[in-house]
Amino acid sequence: YHVTWDIASAEKGGFDHFMLKEIYEQPEAIKNTMLGRIDLDKNQIDFSQEGLDQKFLEGIQRFYIVACGTSYHAGLVAKYLIERELGLPVEVDIASEFRYRNPILDEKTLFIGISQSGETADTLASLRLAKEKGAKTLSICNVVGSTIARETEVVLYTKAGPEISVASTKAFSTQVLTFVLFTFYLKQLLFGENEKKQKIEALIKLPSQLKIFIEKVHSKVKTLAQKWYQAQNALYLGRNILYPIALEGALKLKEISYIHAEGYAAGEMKHGPIALIEEKVPTVILAAKETGIVYEKTLSNAEEVRSRRGPIISLVTEGAKEFQKISDEYIEVPLTFYEFLPIFYVVPLQLLAYEIATLRGCDVDKPRNLAKSVTVE
Ligand code: G6P
Repeated sequence: YHVTWDIASAEKGGFDHFMLKEIYEQPEAIKNTMLGRIDLDKNQIDFSQEGLDQKFLEGIQRFYIVACGTSYHAGLVAKYLIERELGLPVEVDIASEFRYRNPILDEKTLFIGISQSGETADTLASLRLAKEKGAKTLSICNVVGSTIARETEVVLYTKAGPEISVASTKAFSTQVLTFVLFTFYLKQLLFGENEKKQKIEALIKLPSQLKIFIEKVHSKVKTLAQKWYQAQNALYLGRNILYPIALEGALKLKEISYIHAEGYAAGEMKHGPIALIEEKVPTVILAAKETGIVYEKTLSNAEEVRSRRGPIISLVTEGAKEFQKISDEYIEVPLTFYEFLPIFYVVPLQLLAYEIATLRGCDVDKPRNLAKSVTVE
């Protein structure tokens, strides 16, 4: 009677791996992130119950976001959001760099540590350093009562539920969503500006829209993975808020499939990575129409790849015909508000890494040399 096996498979809820289960849990996870934080009557976001209020934010003039790995990528997304929506400067840094520099921060700085586990050694050390320097501190954590959560003045929980797979998925999308809510909320508090009703409605529909999208895009990604899983190198390009998503897509692929992958800002391609382009190196290009993130420029980057015979896998918003023409593979992402783009774009990239790793026979949930939580230096 093999009880252990039964428990293990039951925990995965019918999925082959925790990673896939957690990818599919994202609609539910982001729904939980929103829960109790949106006031539908007023079209407002509310974090005041969690200690994030006018008094706490008084005098804040800039933000310092510090994290590691996938959480760091969520921080990069936040920089685009906060600078665009709040007009306040944001620095983002990797925790292992931050802690051994002389970062300039004071009581007018809000330090934001992002950590799924809340136990990452470098992020924790960075937090303690920021406190010493007199900054105010906030954390975005998933694990309730974790060290980082306990040591910050304010903690916003992502509420993604337990994440078992080493490669982070639902923690990332909920971190990004927490920053979206954070940005909307600060706009209200600092400038008295509410989001348009239309945007709040779109926010509420996000979980159901994402659910439909995941189911639809998965079969497409599976076919695509069959064709590309033997690649040895891959490039991921994006601009603006999709640039961190290119980084995250490349990280996912290298973490679990051991394919060498690099994420780059599309405009920086000609300063190096373009030298790698040839028939065997696929480039994943992320672009979005009508969202003010330089679609045309990304298109011309794609054309540069094409003219060097590089295969193109493009992820673009619905109806981006120009990309369809020049791409080997083409994935459509729903047209949405700027703020919600990262959540939609990251999903097919998570699935792509997953499917490729599976085809290569890799241990998806426990990739070699990696740990879920890095609690020692
Ligand atoms: C490890 C994990 C990553 C994670 C990173 C930061 O490298 O393998 O998935 O993104 O740590 O972890 P944290 O818990 O601080 O978000």
